[in-house]
Amino acid sequence: MTLDDRLQNVAILGAAGKMGSGIGVLIAEEMAKLKLKPENKDKLYTLTMIDVNEKALDGLRSYTTAQLTKRGEKGTVQLRHVYGHRKDLIENADIINQFVQDSTSVCTYATDLSAAKKAHLVFEAIVENERIKIKVYKRLKKICADTTLFLTNTSSIPISYIDKHADLNGRLLGYHFYNPPVIQKLVEVIAADATISELKKIGEELGARLRKRLVPANDVSGFIGNGHFIRDGLYALKKIDELKGKFRFPGAMYIMNKVTQEFLVRPMGIFQLIDYVGIDVFQCILKVMRTHLSDAALRSKLVDKMVKFKVTGGQYTDGSQKDGFLKYEKNRPVGVYNIRSKDYFMINDRWKKSIDAKVGDLPEGYAPWKSLLMNPKKEEALKKHFDSLKRMDTFGAGLALDFLKRTKAIGQKLVSDGVADSPELVNEVLTNGFYWLYGPINEYV
Ligand SMILES: NC(=O)c1ccc[n+]([C@@H]2O[C@H](COP(=O)([O-])OP(=O)(O)OC[C@H]3O[C@@H](n4cnc5c(N)ncnc54)[C@H](O)[C@@H]3O)[C@@H](O)[C@H]2O)c1
Repeated sequence: MTLDDRLQNVAILGAAGKMGSGIGVLIAEEMAKLKLKPENKDKLYTLTMIDVNEKALDGLRSYTTAQLTKRGEKGTVQLRHVYGHRKDLIENADIINQFVQDSTSVCTYATDLSAAKKAHLVFEAIVENERIKIKVYKRLKKICADTTLFLTNTSSIPISYIDKHADLNGRLLGYHFYNPPVIQKLVEVIAADATISELKKIGEELGARLRKRLVPANDVSGFIGNGHFIRDGLYALKKIDELKGKFRFPGAMYIMNKVTQEFLVRPMGIFQLIDYVGIDVFQCILKVMRTHLSDAALRSKLVDKMVKFKVTGGQYTDGSQKDGFLKYEKNRPVGVYNIRSKDYFMINDRWKKSIDAKVGDLPEGYAPWKSLLMNPKKEEALKKHFDSLKRMDTFGAGLALDFLKRTKAIGQKLVSDGVADSPELVNEVLTNGFYWLYGPINEYV
């Protein structure tokens, strides 16, 4: 069966979630494009969006329509070509409306897995829990045809483990979209030893069609992206224990967030990133990795406490940031959690000034991530930044250099442990999936 054949009937599990909803938009668009080809005019296209949360499915309909409208608005030039035969569609608005109608009309919504029965291709993006995933795949195996292929969005569970326990005989491929799937170019692709070649080919072809950058990772828990991010986060958490005596908990958290964002010129500080991903999700991935890698060090008491206190970050349905390690107003950090009092210490100018003074100045000529992103000479600017950092003898510069070395070592270990086939692949995942300006394996340190 070709990819075109498979795209006639697709199911998405966990369709109302963060990842499933985005994957749904991408697939609905591809299906609409196929449906519009004259040779396919008699074919039926069905995208079944399945989620156990019925209420969330309601919100999913409006999300899908809004996202497809946005994509239509951005792609009017291409859509004019697609709808070239429709002389009745004159204005851009007519074309966009028709595109939204054509793509949303392939979508059906369901709460029960049985609705995936006729799917030729299933995207699974349900909760990151191996027991639940395996249970779902066992049921899917009974419900779907023997030819149905499965793509899992798991962030950390080895593909071979799911494949084996659900008895899928190689019909499973790790297809790890990044958040949000409609925007992020990166997809980490993880084949298990058993993954059949037909599915690997479908994965490649689909990636090209969705214009994604596919990066292969080996089938080791956490893969490349989380293999790096989780250890990076754990190191920052460990540093909090070291710094909290001198700076108290909020001060330590503020410093490590500042050092990782500003001194290392990243889009977000490490604690802002953990909040963005969700502290509960971070804990969940830690647990999976700890189990599959038999590494007791993959644990954080602080993360366990935050989840126990139900302070977990993540996003509200409108996309705004929920409070976690940091408190947010209009998505900007304005406070730091105080684990002792279980409330937020609000950052004020006086406090910030006094901590910043202890951390020390930023490297000479510092430019934030956002301005370097657009800078055509960003490599040169980064080299200057890190050269200047290395010459500095401040507390902040020391912390930043230490973190830079640790981050590099984590990346190198992913290569020596066989998770990534090369340093370039590690760098590609971090630069594309996490929007870093430079890879962790670099010559700056
Ligand atoms: N959020 C991220 O940044 C991110 C990035 C990459 C990969 N992932 C992975 O993608 C998957 C989904 O993550 P998410 O963040 O979208 O989670 P989410 O909690 O936003 O969504 C999961 C959805 O699955 C639904 N669900 C749960 N059990 C189900 C079942 N048995 N059948 C059907 N639906 C079910 C839930 O109702 C929910 O809507 C996980 O494996 C996660 O590790 C997440």
